[in-house]
Amino acid sequence: MRGIGDIIVSSRPYEEYRDMFGLTDAELLAGPVLDCPGGAGGFAAGLRARGGEVVSADPAYAEDPAALVARSRAGLEHGLRYLAENRDSYVWTWFDSAEDLAERRLGALDAFARDRRDLADPRYVPAALPDLPFADGAFRLALSGYLLFAYPDHLDPEAHEAALRELLRVAGEVRVYPLIDTAYVRYPGIDDLRSALERDGVASEVRRVDYAFQAGADEVLVLSRP
Ligand SMILES: C[S@@+](CC[C@H](N)C(=O)[O-])C[C@H]1O[C@@H](n2cnc3c(N)ncnc32)[C@H](O)[C@@H]1O
Repeated sequence: MRGIGDIIVSSRPYEEYRDMFGLTDAELLAGPVLDCPGGAGGFAAGLRARGGEVVSADPAYAEDPAALVARSRAGLEHGLRYLAENRDSYVWTWFDSAEDLAERRLGALDAFARDRRDLADPRYVPAALPDLPFADGAFRLALSGYLLFAYPDHLDPEAHEAALRELLRVAGEVRVYPLIDTAYVRYPGIDDLRSALERDGVASEVRRVDYAFQAGADEVLVLSRP
């Protein structure tokens, strides 16, 4: 197992999401957004607070909400310990210190805990890629952060392609961040995946983003359906 290990249920604030996907507030307000995996973050609550429309999907939403928040908090504490041991691998511009990071990620977890009403909250849908319970084209934009490319030990190339095709089925535009895994290795199959999708008319682009936290994680993959 490379890098941080098992898949944690992370909690990022709205602003971090916006910047890591290279988006503006206006772009996020332009139509319904799918956040998959949504994790235990504050993105959805933050977008709704700004007047946006968003649904979050994650297999973790099958869990009792309080248990999920407790599990995510434990994962965050594990992540903070990992970070303390690997401080030099991170870029301290977006977050100015480990304390800033802890405060903002914990704030995002609290925002999630407050926003998610109960197990049946229809804005937080228990679902796992590559099978999403949404209609074709239901969303203008789908965001997929810190699952695809980030955990190559958990998802093989076929699973990556199936996941991207499913996200493209439900959304006109799909953005994936980061393109490196938790051991800072850029996913080697990106060009093959892009070629396979381009053969079906999907436009794809790798864009630089201003946000960076993990060293080398300054690119987002942007896919658009024909
Ligand atoms: C590291 S978190 C990322 C959460 C959020 N996108 C972020 O950037 O903070 C990874 C998430 O992927 C979810 N996950 C695991 N397998 C999945 C699958 N097959 N489809 C969708 N989500 C999955 C986990 O439950 C976990 O919440």
